[in-house]
Amino acid sequence: MSAWGEDLAAWWLEEVEGDPAYRDEVLPLASEVAGVRRGETWLDLGCGEGRVMRAFAELDAVMLGCDMSPTLAAHAGPGTVVAHLPDLEWVRSGSIDGALAVLVLEHLEDHELLLEAAASAVRAGGRLAMVLNHPAFTAQGSAPVIDADDGEVLWRWGGYLEPGVTYEPAGGRTMAFFHRPVGDLLEAAARSGWALDRFVERALGTARAESDPLLAGQTEIPRLLGLGWERH
Ligand SMILES: C[S@@+](CC[C@H](N)C(=O)[O-])C[C@H]1O[C@@H](n2cnc3c(N)ncnc32)[C@H](O)[C@@H]1O
Repeated sequence: MSAWGEDLAAWWLEEVEGDPAYRDEVLPLASEVAGVRRGETWLDLGCGEGRVMRAFAELDAVMLGCDMSPTLAAHAGPGTVVAHLPDLEWVRSGSIDGALAVLVLEHLEDHELLLEAAASAVRAGGRLAMVLNHPAFTAQGSAPVIDADDGEVLWRWGGYLEPGVTYEPAGGRTMAFFHRPVGDLLEAAARSGWALDRFVERALGTARAESDPLLAGQTEIPRLLGLGWERH
């Protein structure tokens, strides 16, 4: 099995517990590209155990969520639906102000279907925001490599230009991560009615880069990408 599944729920709960990357990197970026306004209703797509929803609720937004994992959806609390993306047919067309997907797109094989479904769920003038692992570093074959001579950590690019899938260890098994070049994602979003207005690249925070020798130097390259769109 390689897609996300209920079997990963316990692992994910442990993984995110107290993870400083969320506090320092992921949540600030999500908030920056989303541009939530007070009183708006947002739907968190693949909300996991609900940490992004909780952070956004502090902005006085009404947060709804959905996730394929019943365990994680239950942790996220009331207002959370068990649903399998990209299916958003259960959301009334144009009924929400914004949709958000944080570290979820990488797990979906077809980004076009999600972009189209979100465009149907969000009202005209509403927003879509995403945070993802930067596609510059998610291609097949992309990985840090240690120089045998001096120990310097270099980066092997892999096949960036081709959409593809890699399998990474997660929760005691391997999980599929789908790669697509940035242009594929942005053009599909434009075709689905989304006008890009935020494109924010972020490096790793110093604390995280220093926590693992393989992350050395990643304070200067873009490891997270935040995107924000307005619905035509
Ligand atoms: C890396 S976690 C991120 C969770 C949350 N967005 C956060 O940032 O804390 C990925 C989440 O996407 C969910 N997920 C993966 N594929 C999904 C799908 N096809 N439909 C719904 N949820 C999915 C998983 O259950 C998991 O909760």
